[in-house]
Amino acid sequence: MAISLPDGVATPALVVDPEVLDSNISRMAEASQSQGFVLRPHAKSHKCAQIADRQLRAGAHGLSVATIGEAEAFAQVGVDDLFIAYPVWLDADKTQRLRRLADDVALKVGVESVEGARRLGKALRGSVRRVQVLVEVDSGSHRTGVQPPAAGEVGKAAADAGLDVVGVFTFPGHGYGHDTQARERAARDEERTLGEAAQVLRDLGLDVRVVSGGSTPTVGQWQPGTVNELRPGVYVFNDATQLAIGTCDVEDLALVAAATVISVPAPDRFVLDVGSKVLGSDRSSWVTGHGYLPKFPQGIITGLWEHHAVVRLPDGVRGPRLGSVVAVVPNHICTPVNLADELLVVQDREVVDRWPVTARGANT
Ligand SMILES: Cc1ncc(COP(=O)(O)O)c(C=O)c1O
Repeated sequence: MAISLPDGVATPALVVDPEVLDSNISRMAEASQSQGFVLRPHAKSHKCAQIADRQLRAGAHGLSVATIGEAEAFAQVGVDDLFIAYPVWLDADKTQRLRRLADDVALKVGVESVEGARRLGKALRGSVRRVQVLVEVDSGSHRTGVQPPAAGEVGKAAADAGLDVVGVFTFPGHGYGHDTQARERAARDEERTLGEAAQVLRDLGLDVRVVSGGSTPTVGQWQPGTVNELRPGVYVFNDATQLAIGTCDVEDLALVAAATVISVPAPDRFVLDVGSKVLGSDRSSWVTGHGYLPKFPQGIITGLWEHHAVVRLPDGVRGPRLGSVVAVVPNHICTPVNLADELLVVQDREVVDRWPVTARGANT
């Protein structure tokens, strides 16, 4: 069953079902634990202190984040073990902020170039705690990360610059594909490339303890052995992309945007008060439309403006009434969360809590 919307809610609003959220969190924690993986969920998907707390209480070992700003926001609410899973490129301001963070929490940072490693080492020289780094490997998504043989020169540069090189990481983004084979292939690529890179670093005498991978689509494809840490993020809420590629069911959707029907210009068309400023505009080629409507699954959001979503219906299918409130599942949950001030927690059609998006806009 899809999330029930609260009565009388002011729209647009992001609405969370805490039961579905908790079940997503515990399912992932149990799956990781039972296979011996350390779970370090990516907090960019929720940016919310209350959800981080639930993940940590369920057994997560710290959090992954994408920016220094996200790390600062979670450190401020007491999270003391953070991995910035990103090849941070430091300027003067970021250097100051990273040094403060390094003194306050157990901090890991990604590196993927010799220059970046040297810059990081220089910036952090003299920090109270020694910062740990993980070398980023490209396992096939061709974003950032080095090919496994090149992990050695990056790791050596980092160690020479005084950093504690503790491992390797990758993001298997190419697992986002329509078929389960894409997910399985990505998981195997991840294991192979991380394994090779870890060996290159070990051959240099570096003590590789962390071999970190994982994404929501590769959930269920992991095999214990090479990888020992996982960083899925989207699984807490799921979204229309995960639904389209089959990594979740409608019952696993923990967050929707509540939207009001503000216009019904024709029998086959209605317009909602959510646009790209609420839903975000991410759209993968395998997702139909700009969001999924659980109560109107045949409706396709064909047009998205800043404040309007235009939904088309097939002939003969009835749409909602003018003024009614409907749920929209965003295509990619991380962007809508980043655009919202708060998440409305709803049980039995009532708003029982309001969780601020703690790291809202913390994108630097
Ligand atoms: C470096 C990194 N780790 C982990 C994740 C989390 O994966 P997912 O969004 O599939 O849950 C992401 C997502 O973009 C990422 O970029």
